[in-house]
Amino acid sequence: MTRHIYLDNNATTALHPEALEAMLPFFSEQFGNPSSIHWAGRRVKSAVEEAREQVASLIGCEASEVVFTSCATESNNMAIKGVAAARHARGNHIVTTTVEHPAVLTPCLYLEHQGFQVTTLDVDEQGMLDLNALEAAITDATILVSAMYANNETGTIFPVREIGELAAGKGICFHCDAVQAVGKIPLHWKESNIHLLSLSGHKLQGPKGIGALIIRKGTKVFPLLHGGSQERNRRAGTENVAGIVGLGKACEIAERSMTTESLRIQALRDRLEQGIIATIPGVRLNGHPLKRLPNTVNLSFLDVKSDSLLFNLDLAGIAASSGSACSSGAIKSSHVLRAMGVGSGAPVANIRFSLGSGNSEQDVADVLKVLPGIVQRLRDTSAVT
Ligand SMILES: Cc1ncc(COP(=O)(O)O)c(C=O)c1O
Repeated sequence: MTRHIYLDNNATTALHPEALEAMLPFFSEQFGNPSSIHWAGRRVKSAVEEAREQVASLIGCEASEVVFTSCATESNNMAIKGVAAARHARGNHIVTTTVEHPAVLTPCLYLEHQGFQVTTLDVDEQGMLDLNALEAAITDATILVSAMYANNETGTIFPVREIGELAAGKGICFHCDAVQAVGKIPLHWKESNIHLLSLSGHKLQGPKGIGALIIRKGTKVFPLLHGGSQERNRRAGTENVAGIVGLGKACEIAERSMTTESLRIQALRDRLEQGIIATIPGVRLNGHPLKRLPNTVNLSFLDVKSDSLLFNLDLAGIAASSGSACSSGAIKSSHVLRAMGVGSGAPVANIRFSLGSGNSEQDVADVLKVLPGIVQRLRDTSAVT
């Protein structure tokens, strides 16, 4: 039977067994509504508040700054639309970047249709943001800068501290989509000048369907959902208690194991990357070689098609991706790599390998054993046809 090797942890991660165990009672005997004042509600409410503390502890923020949402897409929408609504009397200009996730770019596009002006900044060939370009883009009407912490496709880490300083110096709100950074690298929230930070449970071994928006004290954000007074009037709707508990546990696990796990995973990633580059000609690294998440490597394989390579990797039991997970299952060309000037012209397969806690040295060795042969075979076949 084919051994399965999962190298797509930026798309999603396996739920940590400890998170699952923590969640289980909230699908059965712990069924209360956290807003109820009787015993059933109180027990559940205290679990929600414990999870809030666990999230806050990983981020380094106050528990009162954590707002639970259904996913990072909701967090991003709430941050961007909520700030636009709260601050539009001060201005109507938003700055973002070309390499953001669609969960940032699409709300910005929506606001553009509503009359806001959006400047989308280019990145360089390593996917890095130019701070001078950011400064030049800011006008008196700028109310929000939305820039990600680390890119989901290349792992490139933006100069978040400098972006925050620039925005803070001009009284502009800074939203940071930190979905791929949380649990992988330390965030330095206190010194960061980030006003709003988005995170997602399923990217750090928590469950799917739960996220959070960290809202710095004093930051005005209009709610996206109107209804009950949950989450201190910031996000209406009965809480996803099991999801919240699972996210809290995942944050606790990340906090205690991040330093050692990141080093272990980075060593595996480096071995994989160096092994591929040493054994397969015509391979190029996409993204910043150093300012990069420890688990991510994005490579261009020249003279190979992405779908053929991914299909053959899948046949060999290896799950990788050609960029962000696409809901249709189709392989689309990546807007991130296009923004970096990668991949137009000759056939080229841009493949992201994103490692995680489930990966071992054996996984890397097995990929290095089969990948050169697959690439060679695909190149030979395309040369014949
Ligand atoms: C950078 C980034 N932002 C936002 C999201 C959306 O997260 P969610 O699946 O929780 O909506 C993702 C998921 O791929 C992501 O990688």
